[in-house]
Formats: sequence, C-alpha cells, structure tokens
Amino acid sequence: MKRIGVLTSGGDAPGMNAAIRAVVRTGIGEGWDVYGIQHGYSGLINGDAVPLGARDVGGIIQRGGTMLGSARSPEFMTEEGRHKALQTLGNYQIEALVVIGGNGSQKGAYALSQMGFPVVGIASTIDNDLYGTDISIGVDTALDIALVAIDRLKVTASSHHRAFAVEVMGRDTGHLALAAGIAGGAEYIVVPEVETDPEDLATAIRSAYDRGKTHAMLVVAEGARYNAEELERYFAEHRAQVGFELRITILGYVQRGGAPGAHDRLLATRFGAAATEALVRGEHGVLIGLLCGEVATTLLSEVAANKKPLDQELLDLVNVLAR
Ligand code: F6P
Repeated sequence: MKRIGVLTSGGDAPGMNAAIRAVVRTGIGEGWDVYGIQHGYSGLINGDAVPLGARDVGGIIQRGGTMLGSARSPEFMTEEGRHKALQTLGNYQIEALVVIGGNGSQKGAYALSQMGFPVVGIASTIDNDLYGTDISIGVDTALDIALVAIDRLKVTASSHHRAFAVEVMGRDTGHLALAAGIAGGAEYIVVPEVETDPEDLATAIRSAYDRGKTHAMLVVAEGARYNAEELERYFAEHRAQVGFELRITILGYVQRGGAPGAHDRLLATRFGAAATEALVRGEHGVLIGLLCGEVATTLLSEVAANKKPLDQELLDLVNVLAR
C-alpha cells in the first residue's frame, strides 16, 4: 500500500480541480491512499492534510479555483521551511507528492525532489510560461475569458473610433497576451519579450485608421515595460501628435476565476492520470506536460533551469494579420 499527497500551489487556474480529481481517483484505482494538502506549500509546512476518497472529489470537475486552496509560501523558499515540509510528509507517511502549479510551484517541487523526496509536477498556470509543456492547465479558459472582453470592447471601440488597450496577466511573460491578441484580432500586441516603442505603436494605430479601420485594439501583457497604465500615460501626454484617444481595460484576476472549459477539463484529467502512471512506473522528479500533442514528462531540473521562449511563428503573424 502506497500513500501519496497532492497539492495545488501559486495562482489558481481553471482545471486544477479536475486534476485533483484525476490524481485521487487514479491513485485509489492503484490501491493507494491519497491525501490532499491544503493551501499549497504552507499546508505542507503546517501539517494541513486530509484523506481524500473518491466521493470527496465528486462534483468538482466543472468548478474553477481549487478545492484544496492555494497559497504562495515564502517560508517554503527557505531550507528550514522545506525541512518542516518533509517532516509533515513523514508524519503522514506520505511517500510521494503531486504538485499542481506553475513556475514557482515547480521550482519548489524540484527543491523537494533534490532533497530525495519523490515528486511529480503537473503543469498548471494561466501564464503558459512553464518550460516542458506547450500548454498548461487553465490557459484555454483564461483565453476564452479574455476574448469575451476583447470582443465586447471592439464593439464600443468601433462606435467611438477609439483605440483600446486590454491588459492581460502573464506575470513577466507575454505568452497569454500573444495568444489572446492573435485570437482577438488585435492590431498590436505588447509583450515584455519584445521592446516596444510607443511612437511606433501610435503610428501603427493611426495607419490602421487611415486604412479604414473603425477601431484599434491593443493587447498588452501586464509585465511589459509599456503596460496599459504606462501606455495611457504616454498617449495622454502626446495627445496632439497621436491624434486619438486611448482607453484601457485591465482584466486582472477575472481571467483566473472562470469555470474550466472542455479543453482544460480534459487536459487536467489526462495530466492527473499521467502523474499517477509516472509514480506507478517509479518515475519522479519530472513535470507532466503536453508536447506536440502528447502527454510527456520533462525533468524538473530542466523545467527549473529553462525559460519558455515565445512562439516566434505567432509573433511573426501579428503584423501580417493586422492589415
Ligand atoms: O501566475 C499566475 C498569475 O495570475 C500571474 O498572471 C499574475 O501576475 C500573478 O499570478 C498574480 O499573483 P497573485 O495571485 O499572488 O497576486
């Protein structure tokens, strides 16, 4: 009989519950006990763990957020914190841990595995910035939420011949902004990875109007040097030269709070099952992700050491499509 633990950590993402459900039920299917650790790594340090049966994870697949709660734990960043976490795992006789989360969470998972504890990570973050997976749990739903906003803003932008900037999350990366901008038909996408000159941006918007467009939509990543507020300031200061008004909308946490769509429920379920399968094979110290359409494992050491590059093909498409 094996006993495993599962936790969700960092920013929540739609689909985390579906992943928890899959880990619990496939784990039980292997004849294991499964414990849910509450509030991420903080719960691991404080000893907040509960046994989860098949019924405990009923009715959650369609729910956003995470039934286990999530947290960012500064204490876990310290060696002392991580030792306390290992103690909790020992006290509960948990032999392996599944960590559902994004970059910071998987770095934590790697730290635990370096201390000799078997850990399997599951890629989950709306930022889609995790190395070792083409897409993470929560991205698809967050994109759909952003698109509802962008589509609506285009309507009002057209009525008023205004430019709109929509700011999406993504921390210090532009993966979410790039995908939202392409899918939303944005005229311009501003990401931290590419330097943006606001004057070029103003020129691009003016030329869009000159070509007969009734609106101009910019999608901006929160981590860009010129995020929505900075752009607003620039456009207000250069009103005379720019020749039109810019209105901004910052989507913020609304992108994280949706109910998971079909894509995220399926992805999370496949990832949860794959985490259990990896542990059955005796494979750990890895991240479960999706590479070229297949569920795949990548060493946590590689995940922690690498930055996921922006999709260059998508970047190249931005200008072509904004004609
Ligand atoms: O990593 C997910 C994310 O939503 C980022 O997009 C955002 O920058 C960050 O979390 C916000 O973090 P917090 O929930 O701690 O405010």
